[in-house]
Amino acid sequence: MIKPTTIVQQEKKRIAVFASGTGSNAQKIIEHFNYGNKGATVALVVSNNTATGVLKIAEKENIPSLIIERNKFYEDGYLPALKKIRIDIIVLAGFMWKVPDQLIQSYQNKIINIHPALLPKFGGKNMYGNFVHEAVLKAGEKESGITIHYVDEIYDHGKIIFQAKCTIDDNETTETLADKIHALEHEFYSSIIEKVLLTA
Ligand code: GRF
Repeated sequence: MIKPTTIVQQEKKRIAVFASGTGSNAQKIIEHFNYGNKGATVALVVSNNTATGVLKIAEKENIPSLIIERNKFYEDGYLPALKKIRIDIIVLAGFMWKVPDQLIQSYQNKIINIHPALLPKFGGKNMYGNFVHEAVLKAGEKESGITIHYVDEIYDHGKIIFQAKCTIDDNETTETLADKIHALEHEFYSSIIEKVLLTA
């Protein structure tokens, strides 16, 4: 006689995506996890900006969203709210505020960021969006790329998980470089998050 086997259904890991902008990376991450059987789901979208595209994406995708307020963020990191809905991992996708220490300590190695250049170069405070691409071009770099890294207490400083490169052409502009970088981000961010989730 064949013995009955117990199938243990693993609970899906719950991702919170923090974003302040248009949310094209957030959209890709949602498509990757929420439309496929990936063992994780985007359970929350967090933004500091009420007028941002990412909130429209959350609404369209039926994902709860949380609009955060600066004082409270630096008071308790919205930790009780995140714990209440059992968030396992935080993914920053164009999130403009520095993550408070108490959140970093509670989610050790469970907060990931994507930076639109090859860290440790071209990172730090005020290095975001086109400022990064302008600095890269001004420095005469021959290549740029993306860096996916853990978040620690210092801007763009946590352990690097993954980098991908693109070349910089002679006639490159901030716009053409931004397009190349976005393409790399969309290609790689979700699958790297998936790998990190295996150990989270
Ligand atoms: C990305 O380029 C990312 O590297 C940076 O912010 C940008 C967000 O873009 N941290 P989007 O809102 O996902 O299009």
